[in-house]
Amino acid sequence: MKKVRIGVFGAGRGMTMVHEIIGDPLAELVAVCDKYKPLLDNCRREAEAAGLTNITYYERFDDFFNHDMDAVVLANYANEHVPFGIRLMESGRHIMTECLTCSTMKEAVELIEAVERTGVTYTYAENYCYTPVRWEMRQRYRRGDIGELMYAEGEYLHDCSSIWPQITYGERNHWRNLMSSTFYCTHSIGPILYMTGLRPVQVTAYETPNMPFMRNLGTGSGTLGMEVITLSNGAFMKSLHFGIKHYRGSNYQLNGDLGALQDMGDGTIGVYMEEGPGQNGCGKHENYAPSAIIPGTENSGHGGGDYFTTHYFVRSILGDPVARERAINVYDAVDMCIPGTLGYVSIAQGNAPIKIPNLRNKEERDAWRNDTRCSFPAIAGDQLIPNNLWGDGEIDESVFDEVRRRWEAGEPG
Ligand SMILES: NC(=O)c1ccc[n+]([C@@H]2O[C@H](COP(=O)([O-])OP(=O)(O)OC[C@H]3O[C@@H](n4cnc5c(N)ncnc54)[C@H](O)[C@@H]3O)[C@@H](O)[C@H]2O)c1
Repeated sequence: MKKVRIGVFGAGRGMTMVHEIIGDPLAELVAVCDKYKPLLDNCRREAEAAGLTNITYYERFDDFFNHDMDAVVLANYANEHVPFGIRLMESGRHIMTECLTCSTMKEAVELIEAVERTGVTYTYAENYCYTPVRWEMRQRYRRGDIGELMYAEGEYLHDCSSIWPQITYGERNHWRNLMSSTFYCTHSIGPILYMTGLRPVQVTAYETPNMPFMRNLGTGSGTLGMEVITLSNGAFMKSLHFGIKHYRGSNYQLNGDLGALQDMGDGTIGVYMEEGPGQNGCGKHENYAPSAIIPGTENSGHGGGDYFTTHYFVRSILGDPVARERAINVYDAVDMCIPGTLGYVSIAQGNAPIKIPNLRNKEERDAWRNDTRCSFPAIAGDQLIPNNLWGDGEIDESVFDEVRRRWEAGEPG
């Protein structure tokens, strides 16, 4: 069978996909692009050590764009996936983008319409959906084991302060410094929607103040963001994410009218299950370690999830129906993301509830086509909502000088 020829854009996180493509018998890595040459050199060293000498390395996107390839993985800046992605799709390339899906409601509409117009394969690399436990939760929920969902929690707690110099390089305008508290929301929302197949219909969001331990590293946003999201069956979920100090990094749970499923955080699933009426409060408890979707993938990154994004992307392009059902399409990717986009509007409006459109419906799109509200100045234009709503003011340049110094010296944050 003809292999899918793939290019990777962004060689930081993109190295995960480089490894997956190199290990995939149905894919061929043909080009890598990053404007930061040391990352390209690192990629070249690794590829050559694996015996691969036919990869072309580019520092400029425009040169990379002209390379002969079928598909591109976008692991560039998290707030720039849509403009680059649309250009690639218009040229007939299939794309998979890293997190996040889009930065604004305008981009959400544009992305969906570009996928519809071009007919290429779009896949969203939300790797947190594919760990063995979260996959088991999906299977069991869809089998009806806990009845109808009433409540869910998705938590992605990740205190990045120690690595902040290495992931922002002391750049004031790095997306990680400019993002709002609710921007990076798909690791917490995504798995819940993926498990249940439900849609978000309304969001009310909250954030903590901009805490000094992060402000002193160059970010002005609220340190922890939370969205309370009403789902299409009337259930609601709590999505909590990012930089708070924590004991346990994540929680995913589904509570239904016949039982509950929980990711216990140690590779096991907790199940409470009543078999039907008359069993109220006296169902069965179970706790076990489910096997991976494909045996042998347990050790891939992020709890086993990293393997599957590229795997299903490649096989979706080749027309495999199982991969197409399991890969995350553009509508589901937008659903995972826009509760965060609109969540920040909620915060700016004093935690007001905001309705979330279903952008599958063409007639719902026009209202959002020109909505650029977000915390990234270059994208928002005159609709900017600053990522600090607490009146803390500009961060002094000396903070960025110090972070840059630590990045160059390889020191932690
Ligand atoms: N799913 C996950 O678990 C996970 C983990 C880490 C990062 N990510 C995502 O991966 C993406 C990349 O993150 P990262 O950690 O590598 O940091 P990053 O966003 O700082 O890195 C992006 C890389 O792309 C390169 N780049 C950006 N624009 C370019 C351009 N126009 N031309 C050439 N090169 C360009 C940069 O030099 C940089 O090396 C982001 O979308 C991030 O959200 C996802």
